[in-house]
Amino acid sequence: MDVRESHDPTRTRAWARLTELATSVRERHLRDLFADEPGRGPAWTLEAAGLRVDFSKQRVTADVMAALMDLAVEQGVLARRDAMFAGDHINTTEDRSVLHTALRLPSGAPLEVDGAEVSGEVHEVLRRMSDFADRVRSGEWTGATGQRIRNVINIGIGGSDLGPAMAYEALRYYSDRAMTFRFVSNVDPTDISEALLGLEPVETLFIVASKTFGTQETLTNARAAREWLVAALGEDAVSRHFVAVSTNAERVAEFGIDTDNMFGFWDWVGGRYSMDSAIGLSTMIAVGPERFREMLAGFHAMDEHFRHADPAVNLPLRMGLLAVWNRDFLAIPTTAVLPYAQFLARFPAYLQQLTMESNGKSVRLDGARVDYATGAIYWGEPGTNGQHSFYQLLHQGTEVVACDFVLFAQALEPVFDMQDMLAANALAQAAVLAFGRTAEEVRAEGTPEDLVPHKVMEGNRPSTFILATRLEPHALGALIALYEHSVFVQGAVWGIDSFDQWGVELGKAMANAILPDLQDADRPLDRDSSTDALIRAYQSMHAQA
Ligand code: F6P
Repeated sequence: MDVRESHDPTRTRAWARLTELATSVRERHLRDLFADEPGRGPAWTLEAAGLRVDFSKQRVTADVMAALMDLAVEQGVLARRDAMFAGDHINTTEDRSVLHTALRLPSGAPLEVDGAEVSGEVHEVLRRMSDFADRVRSGEWTGATGQRIRNVINIGIGGSDLGPAMAYEALRYYSDRAMTFRFVSNVDPTDISEALLGLEPVETLFIVASKTFGTQETLTNARAAREWLVAALGEDAVSRHFVAVSTNAERVAEFGIDTDNMFGFWDWVGGRYSMDSAIGLSTMIAVGPERFREMLAGFHAMDEHFRHADPAVNLPLRMGLLAVWNRDFLAIPTTAVLPYAQFLARFPAYLQQLTMESNGKSVRLDGARVDYATGAIYWGEPGTNGQHSFYQLLHQGTEVVACDFVLFAQALEPVFDMQDMLAANALAQAAVLAFGRTAEEVRAEGTPEDLVPHKVMEGNRPSTFILATRLEPHALGALIALYEHSVFVQGAVWGIDSFDQWGVELGKAMANAILPDLQDADRPLDRDSSTDALIRAYQSMHAQA
């Protein structure tokens, strides 16, 4: 299939078959599926790159899986995958290649993009990053007064923040604990003020991370940081305390950062797919180049699996197809990501951008509006915390939520048998969601009749269970690549461009237009009556400050 073509998935034979199968699957409980298929647990488990992923608690049968595979074939998913890895311009609305996978190619694996060899460039940037990270970590790179850098502040937003912030938390165990890492993203002034609080300018390094170097929030925060630094140390200090990560050298120079202190990447890396590019500089400074490369190896291991594994055992392929099944055929609108790992606290937020900015689209590549559901809403919190908050709705609410559990078998910092408690909770939740508790079972416990309906747990709520040995850099890379490729598979089935984000542009433009109106109460307003009234109310409250 030409990657520029796109097909309406609802016109495929497989879609019709899946619609038919959904009618019967909807009537079957996971209890029945497990009763009918002894050994369903292991039978529906796939392994790759150190991850063991159990799909058995998805409401799916072998017939459904076969039809989903047919759907993938009819929609040309694997051809599109190969086109992505080959550097074709599969991001058609921006006419770009989609090559985050090139960021984790081992050195010596050549790759040409638009006639240019890129693998060498990728490794050259990695080499410069490693050199810089080592110098900062060892104290060889000092601030303007010769003092060691102890604080690193990453200023960026979206993909230039969520990946680095998530990865820092996730790999905190491996980080240099003598250093402080902070992440500033919001244009809310408290974000930068709080980040600067208690820090000494002489030992603070700012990484201004922006693919475009044109993002209002990032440039404004960077200006505030610059003022803070210059007020203490003078203009000349900027070059020792500011580095940039961007694709746009001109704008970096315009901002006043020496391009010798700039780490580049390429327009074929999407913002939300960029944490393993130079955007990951803060991660590398935190954990060191070797750990960073281990993370890249984890990404690469999953890339290789996605690219070469047989479709029948292809983990991201199956995960993506099951996401389509849940969304379009079981009409499940949201997915909760439930990492049973406190260090993955920012993982759901990271996945929100990855999944929703990628697949939150309602127009196909061919320009037609879709008449089927696309990207689900992703959200979540670490377990066990979420259990004491929103799990009530997961178990007994009127909306079914698909859940992804993530668990590691080994504690990074063992205390008593707490890791076992954590694991027991994750396993219990997944089992209760799937199998619930019948009225008979509730009665058998001697429950008064009037309470029986309240204590019944319907079950039949699907989940995927991802298990890995330990939260190590390799496992983190593999986990993220798994989701990246699952997102890809979903987008390919839906025939949408998972790599553009036109939907965020209008809001940005309108904010720019509203700003001068907000700042001048004498300007006449002529928007809608709600926005105009809110502007006037804001002006009057703001003036009281
Ligand atoms: O507003 C959306 C977006 O373009 C994201 O896709 C991106 O990650 C973020 O803004 C930040 O962009 P930049 O890295 O260019 O500052």
